[in-house]
Amino acid sequence: SFEVKIASTGKSFTVPADKSITQVLDENGVFVPVSCEEGVCGTCLVRVLEGEPEHRDLYLTDAEHAANDQMTPCCSRSKSPVLVLDI
Ligand code: FES
Repeated sequence: SFEVKIASTGKSFTVPADKSITQVLDENGVFVPVSCEEGVCGTCLVRVLEGEPEHRDLYLTDAEHAANDQMTPCCSRSKSPVLVLDI
């Protein structure tokens, strides 16, 4: 598991292995629009302020993945213990 911190509120949530970031946020009243939930459409794209995403989408390019400043929280996860998202 890892923590996701919401920059606008400073609140952190634990994302367990069996849930997506967007599932956990939704359960806690933080709405991120989703569509495909499979990493292909880019609807859920958010900016990453801190931490290193584990990209699992097919939407961003390799260069965008390497920059680590945005991610698709419907399917991607985290390599670092904490991700701070610009939400
Ligand atoms: Fe389609 Fe996340 S909802 S990429």
